[in-house]
Amino acid sequence: MDTILEVKNLHVTFSTYGGTIKAVRGVDFHLNKGETLAIVGESGCGKSVTSNAIMRLIPDPPGKITNGTIVFKDKDLTALPEKTMRSIRGVDISMIFQDPMTALNPTLTIGTQLMEGVRQHHRITSDQAKSKALEMMHLVGIPNPTERLKQYPHQFSGGMRQRIVIAMALICEPELLIADEPTTALDVTIQAQILELFDEIQEATGVSIILITHDLGVVAKIADRIAVMYAGKIIEVGTKREIFYDPQHPYTKGLLKSVPRLDVTGEKLVPIDGTPPDLFSPPKGCPFTARCPFAMEVCDKVYPVTTEQSDTHKVDCWLQDERAKQLLAASAIKQ
Ligand SMILES: Nc1ncnc2c1ncn2[C@@H]1O[C@H](COP(=O)(O)OP(=O)(O)OP(=O)(O)O)[C@@H](O)[C@H]1O
Ligand code: SF4
Ligand SMILES: [Mg+2]
Repeated sequence: MDTILEVKNLHVTFSTYGGTIKAVRGVDFHLNKGETLAIVGESGCGKSVTSNAIMRLIPDPPGKITNGTIVFKDKDLTALPEKTMRSIRGVDISMIFQDPMTALNPTLTIGTQLMEGVRQHHRITSDQAKSKALEMMHLVGIPNPTERLKQYPHQFSGGMRQRIVIAMALICEPELLIADEPTTALDVTIQAQILELFDEIQEATGVSIILITHDLGVVAKIADRIAVMYAGKIIEVGTKREIFYDPQHPYTKGLLKSVPRLDVTGEKLVPIDGTPPDLFSPPKGCPFTARCPFAMEVCDKVYPVTTEQSDTHKVDCWLQDERAKQLLAASAIKQ
């Protein structure tokens, strides 16, 4: 399978009056062409910082990519001049943000905004831009596109506005689409429709997608692979099947317990006790130690080695280490 993006040992920090926040602390992952990778984890674990780093949209100061590489189709984005990045953003890599209103200009018609989007990057006539805009409106499922092009953002419902934002992100035919919580602001039925739309778009265009969310229900619907983030690190990654049916990290298991099941009514969400560590001075060892029911002596002292459960399934937890397994087996015999 072709890899379109490879992130290696990514570190991002923010310098503040209170000290340096280590928001992303050595993140590694890759994205295959045409697949959807979901990045999940609790609020503040570094999902948006990771995706903004790919777009090179970390505000500097206070933020900085202090280490690592982000290779997109043979180019290390961390090393490119800002001018080159500007020609990549919105063209090769597009991003959809959480709030559709901030991505749209309330004073311009949808048609103008879509057409400007494409004409900024490609030399085409206004007729060509208009037909591209109509094609995109059609792709994202907006009825009566010719009429709708003349309207302003406030004349659209929340779900329709999000479709337009998606159309804007896709109009230059990017190869990579990063969607940061694209459905959080929408109600549940509309959410489901937008998720279906992602699937349809991927089928039609072959675009590779990174989907950021804290909602595992969303992930269950459309992800091929899942990376679980905790306190600035990816602590487990695997195919959707591996993560949902064979999770290994205690944090992933806890997250899965807290997913409301669609087929069971009245079931309560089970939050994981405790809070993530302070990112000003994150622990040397496993950041989940303070909340983990299985924590061992080694856990808060040394960061776990990554173990491979399969070619696609990797986990950072001492419980998977052979030595820990032997110790546990020995202590079970003694009891
Ligand atoms: N501009 C900034 N200045 C200082 N700290 C920041 C800045 N942006 C992010 N951070 C810090 O980086 C950490 C990771 O933030 P990030 O926005 O990536 O979280 P997230 O996983 O996207 O959470 P959420 O689910 O709430 O969107 C947090 O501790 C946050 O406070
Ligand atoms: S390394 Fe230790 S503390 Fe961390 S998740 Fe595994 S058992 Fe729990
Ligand atoms: Mg975020």
